[in-house]
Amino acid sequence: MKKIVIAIDGYSSCGKSTTAKLVAAELGYAYIDTGAMYRAVTLYFLTHHVSLTNPKEVNDALDKIDITFHYNPKVKRNEVFLNGLNVEDEIRKMYISNQVSEVSVVKEVRHAMVAQQQKMGKKRGVVMDGRDIGTAVFPDAEVKIFMTADVDTRARRRQDELLEKKQLINLDEIKENLLKRDLIDSTRQESPLRRADDAFLLDTSHMTIDEQVEFVLNKVTSRI
Ligand code: C5P
Repeated sequence: MKKIVIAIDGYSSCGKSTTAKLVAAELGYAYIDTGAMYRAVTLYFLTHHVSLTNPKEVNDALDKIDITFHYNPKVKRNEVFLNGLNVEDEIRKMYISNQVSEVSVVKEVRHAMVAQQQKMGKKRGVVMDGRDIGTAVFPDAEVKIFMTADVDTRARRRQDELLEKKQLINLDEIKENLLKRDLIDSTRQESPLRRADDAFLLDTSHMTIDEQVEFVLNKVTSRI
């Protein structure tokens, strides 16, 4: 069977990663969470006090950053490592969510991440989720999905996810963070978040995870 690239883009917390993970498992594909890569860069920049307005500092820091994914059989998921250290839990914290979009605006950061993502998906057989996969990373992806959901639903889902990680965050704070990130992500100059012309729109406001997965798999069937 032909191996393809499935690009899942969309707004923050509308179920992209949950859907992408399950679709990848169903097809035996690799799943790549590109948001985790931008979060890992943000963690490095914050801990090393990298100035976002100094391209040399940014490039020097990027040269020192190695981001990899490793499968953890205990929790049955891919986890992100920054320079050999498991940072999966750290990068999901609110202080990273509050800074990640500012870091993701930086041109040098985007170029480095996009190049690495293209390498990771070169052999195809991947499901990649993010903001610019169908428009910049793999404009030739065989299946493109653009996900959205109303902001209250997204905030509640995000709060539940954080609670599972023992982080109790106020709903208004989460909502504010989502809206702020959506605004920065969709108005930046370099590869902004937008729906590719050939992407299927998937509004998950009133859908279960199973229905979302089925929607994507239905689009895939005709392309493999
Ligand atoms: O997917 P997640 O919500 O973890 O992404 C965190 C942030 O990383 C986004 O809000 C966005 O600023 C950035 N991002 C990006 N391009 C991607 C994936 C994520 O700019 N492909």
